[in-house]
Amino acid sequence: MWNNLFSRSPLNITVLVGSESMAGSLRRYHITTFGCQMNKADSERMAGILEEMGFQWSDDPNHADVILYNTCTIRDNAEQKVYSYLGRQAKRKHEQPALTLIVAGCVAQQEGEALLRRVPELDLVMGPQYANRLRDLLEQVFDGNQIVATEPVHIFEDITKPRRDSTVTAWVNVIYGCNERCTYCVVPNVRGVEQSRPPEAIRAEMEILGRQGYKEVTLLGQNIDAYGRDLPGVTLEGRHQHTLTDLLYVVHDVPGIDRLRFATSHPRYFTERLIHACAELPNVCEHFHIPFQSGDNTILKAMARGYTPGKYRRIIDTIRRYMPDAAISADAIVGFPGETEAQFQNTLNLVEDIGFDQLNTAAYSPRPGTPAALWDNQISEEVKTDRLQRLNHLVATKAAERSQRYLDRVEEVLVEDQNPKDPAQVMGRTRGNRLTFFEGDIRELKGKTVPVQITTARAFSLSGEAIVTPLVCA
Ligand code: SAH
Ligand code: SF4
Ligand code: F3S
Repeated sequence: MWNNLFSRSPLNITVLVGSESMAGSLRRYHITTFGCQMNKADSERMAGILEEMGFQWSDDPNHADVILYNTCTIRDNAEQKVYSYLGRQAKRKHEQPALTLIVAGCVAQQEGEALLRRVPELDLVMGPQYANRLRDLLEQVFDGNQIVATEPVHIFEDITKPRRDSTVTAWVNVIYGCNERCTYCVVPNVRGVEQSRPPEAIRAEMEILGRQGYKEVTLLGQNIDAYGRDLPGVTLEGRHQHTLTDLLYVVHDVPGIDRLRFATSHPRYFTERLIHACAELPNVCEHFHIPFQSGDNTILKAMARGYTPGKYRRIIDTIRRYMPDAAISADAIVGFPGETEAQFQNTLNLVEDIGFDQLNTAAYSPRPGTPAALWDNQISEEVKTDRLQRLNHLVATKAAERSQRYLDRVEEVLVEDQNPKDPAQVMGRTRGNRLTFFEGDIRELKGKTVPVQITTARAFSLSGEAIVTPLVCA
């Protein structure tokens, strides 16, 4: 298939010469995306590149000539899913040798050439830092090369025109990579060091979105509070000139963009100055996603998170002091190595006390290349599953309680789509990010912000009725 004599291209990628993949009149592409919002944003940009190259989207991978899996390796089950998808398409390639198979994203970065050994049918293995360089890489593939692109590179400024999934809400990357070293986490290994985009580039992208009719933007970063610390410039007081807070002041008033969100926040860097800005700027939504991971101080230390449960509680108190109705969501891990029942109880206590609107929970999964994976105090799968169930039960109970505050209230809902389960209904989100359904015609309402009186409050979603403003006759 391919030999091991490889050459270095100017892009710092490994070109494995001698692949059987062939250039041809390839027309259709399919992308399956796993993982987080960062991957979704990367997929939208890669789809944009493929369309600029003349390919057309195919819903069905079996009808596509180029198949790209944008992969996630945050937990073992995410990684294994990729292999099962790949296996099917690798088989297909034997009957259809012109098929181009690409693995992008975090599994690609983690496994690199090893992935080619496991699935030799692959044409291109590319890490997340190469998303904006897909065209160059594919051209080399069409020249007959098998490519591995995983060396750290400077991320190209986003010059591509993404093919966005939504016409109402959009992601905008502000910082790539992560410089933290949480002991369980594979992200710094696969996403590389922090690289912030200049504020002007971010605003320029948002202005285009505003002109295209987008109404909501979510600024993205794995640790968005680190935004700007790699950019030059300090203020007279000696602090970084380009912090996330400064960025919000730069981008909060882009014409057409009525709602601004950001994720993911890190408690270690979350400042009162930021909270003040969120309260002050009307377009910034009262919704915060701040993972706490564990409610126990010893576990947080072992995770190397750099804050205490007390600090986390104080952040939430401060947010609620400025914005009493703010929605709070987070991520948490159960069964971290060494976690005792009492330490797990501290996580339950935190969830009980804070009352999250939403919580993403996961059982700890040992990841290659991370310190905690090597520790000998791993928790059994049975205990992890049991703790996860208990935590999820509490989360659902608390979220249902939190949801009740919306009953009978009028919420501003930005309509995104039709309810897939009921075509007579549309769905959208409140400023607090609660999914809300109400009767209406999507052709008329898409992209509109509608006042909705809430009549049903479930744990993670709401239903209501649009308030019709009577027409005033002249
Ligand atoms: N940058 C964010 C989250 C990144 S990953 C932060 O710092 O919080 C998304 C979530 O996956 C994490 O918040 C964590 O809850 C979970 N996660 C990461 N590594 C994990 C692992 N090894 N096992 C289980 N869950 C993990
Ligand atoms: Fe992973 Fe920690 Fe970075 Fe989040 S902050 S991506 S958990 S290393
Ligand atoms: Fe997964 Fe990579 Fe995101 S590992 S969670 S897709 S950064």
